[in-house]
Amino acid sequence: MISEEIRQKFLTFFEKRGHKIIPSASLVPADYGDEGTLFTTAGMQPLIPYLLGRPHPAGARLVDVQKCVRTGDIEDVGDNRHLTFFEMMGNWSIGDSTAENGIGAGYFKQESINWSLEFLTSKEEGLGLDPKRFYVTIFRGEDGLPRDEEAIKIWQAAFAQAGLEANIAGEDEVVGENIRIIPLGKEDNFWIAGATGPCGGDTEIFYDTRPTDGPLVGKFGEMVDSFRLIEVWNNVFMEYEKMPDGSYKPLKQKNVDTGMGLERTTAVLNNVGVFQTDIFAPILAEITAHSNQDDEQAKRIIADHLRTAVFMLASGVGPANTDRGYILRRIIRRLVRYSDKIGATDNLSEKLVDLVVAKYENFYPELATEKDKIIVELKKEEEKFRQTLAAGIKIIDKEFAGKLNEVIDTAENMTSPLLTGEFFFNLYQTYGIPLELGLEEVKNRGLKLVKGIEEKLKTEFGDRLQKHQELSRAGADQKFKGGLASESKQVVRYHTATHLLQAALKEVLGPEVAQRGSNITDERLRFDFAYPAKLTDDQKNAVENLVNEKIKADLPMNRVELPKTEAEKTGATHLFGEKYGETVTVYYTGDDVASAWSKEFCGGPHVSRTGELGHFKIKKEEAIAAGVRRIKAVLE
Ligand code: ALA
Repeated sequence: MISEEIRQKFLTFFEKRGHKIIPSASLVPADYGDEGTLFTTAGMQPLIPYLLGRPHPAGARLVDVQKCVRTGDIEDVGDNRHLTFFEMMGNWSIGDSTAENGIGAGYFKQESINWSLEFLTSKEEGLGLDPKRFYVTIFRGEDGLPRDEEAIKIWQAAFAQAGLEANIAGEDEVVGENIRIIPLGKEDNFWIAGATGPCGGDTEIFYDTRPTDGPLVGKFGEMVDSFRLIEVWNNVFMEYEKMPDGSYKPLKQKNVDTGMGLERTTAVLNNVGVFQTDIFAPILAEITAHSNQDDEQAKRIIADHLRTAVFMLASGVGPANTDRGYILRRIIRRLVRYSDKIGATDNLSEKLVDLVVAKYENFYPELATEKDKIIVELKKEEEKFRQTLAAGIKIIDKEFAGKLNEVIDTAENMTSPLLTGEFFFNLYQTYGIPLELGLEEVKNRGLKLVKGIEEKLKTEFGDRLQKHQELSRAGADQKFKGGLASESKQVVRYHTATHLLQAALKEVLGPEVAQRGSNITDERLRFDFAYPAKLTDDQKNAVENLVNEKIKADLPMNRVELPKTEAEKTGATHLFGEKYGETVTVYYTGDDVASAWSKEFCGGPHVSRTGELGHFKIKKEEAIAAGVRRIKAVLE
């Protein structure tokens, strides 16, 4: 079964069971609610406000396929499992009460678990897999939270229906005859995105990829590590909110959040690795046709990174030196380095963009509309990086001039102050030249590096890199702590201020001003937008005055739910490249949406009246990438 078919089957299966299909939200988190992550990393992220209690306009049962990016494991890409971009299929119950819009009531563990097994095993409506090949983990309870007895009972009944006994593994977590349910602790079976927010125990479904190896015997974890058991689906039962003080408060409503990776499911179903699926096989074949080296890992890295770069560019992200633009830049740089490594320098990326767009344009039409821009941006960035690499290589030439034939016998005799891990780390940091390439260049210039020296350099370089990564990670954690779904009063005020700022920018600079990103904390708002020039003092003053005028006018902030086409007709601002559901919420100032000064597609929440904002002040206006400006502003 190919990926398109699996995706469609998933949507149809849940649609038939009362779920409304909602489109993927943008890869770039919307202007509020998930300021902690640079990219959407899970299907739940765009839905957090609804998991916390706001009614979703499409009702209580939803199904979607969400574009996600996770770059934490980027160094592992190439092993046939890890990817930086993936599609997460999910079915949702937003609250377990009767929904608005008559679409159907929500549900909880019973339906969720039964439907999971049915979808995986049904020949007619699902994937038609053998129920014998499934094992599940459940939350065994920890930190005062109880073991999930209910999930155990439901699983046992579901397996019994398929004629299977499903006993529970003991403390030692050994899977033996008839043992199918493995209770695990918080680290494995409790889901939360970030430090605080909606969360709960989960049940993960694993598939036996090698039943011909005989009965499963041994520890559950060992069978996962050996890839015999592969996780295909996670069902999270969200019933708590983790508070900043670490306590768990029962949520107003119980939710179900499930996540099933499309790439991995396609691989498992076809008994291959992710790179042999219909998603990647044609891309890899094209890469092979362009390369003169048989380096499978390099080819996989190119295939993965190219696909991720295409989706990022289609979401309006451009290469830059900070935040998400930097992640994209890093991905493109790796793409270039690995393309060079296998000798594939002949316009390979343009051909690959064609393949990726053709594969996805039906489901993600933004790829087709943005295709020309994607190619231009990608080429520009590749070109720029090749120039940077060349500049780095010039540094090597300059630094090593006159020492080219120096022979260094042992590590102890290494006298050149240049031959340090620090030197190569700086080449990597500044010019993107990885250690292997740096050493190769040095060797190509005749400098003989005996083994001891090479190893010493590798260790020093590795230590330096690790230190750097720890620092960046600490920075990232810090960001995450900002909270995914803070609804503090300050954040809500800044959220409304962001709407006013956008409307003012459009009035002062012109309607072509388009949002490129937004980040809100308790202390300030940050707003990125497309505009070609630095703002003059007069323009900044005009924007500030306009926002303050609207605050003084103490306008009501109102919301209305409308069919998407109606909402568009109001002229409300919406995000570039974003797809919205059939019904959308528009927040607007004043009493009438048609004549409202500020109106935006938005999930809220907002203050009730603009008068609550106080005084608005722009603190900084700067460029963050070509054609993209950033404003930081505060409420005083
Ligand atoms: N939110 C859950 C996950 O990402 C489904 O695994």
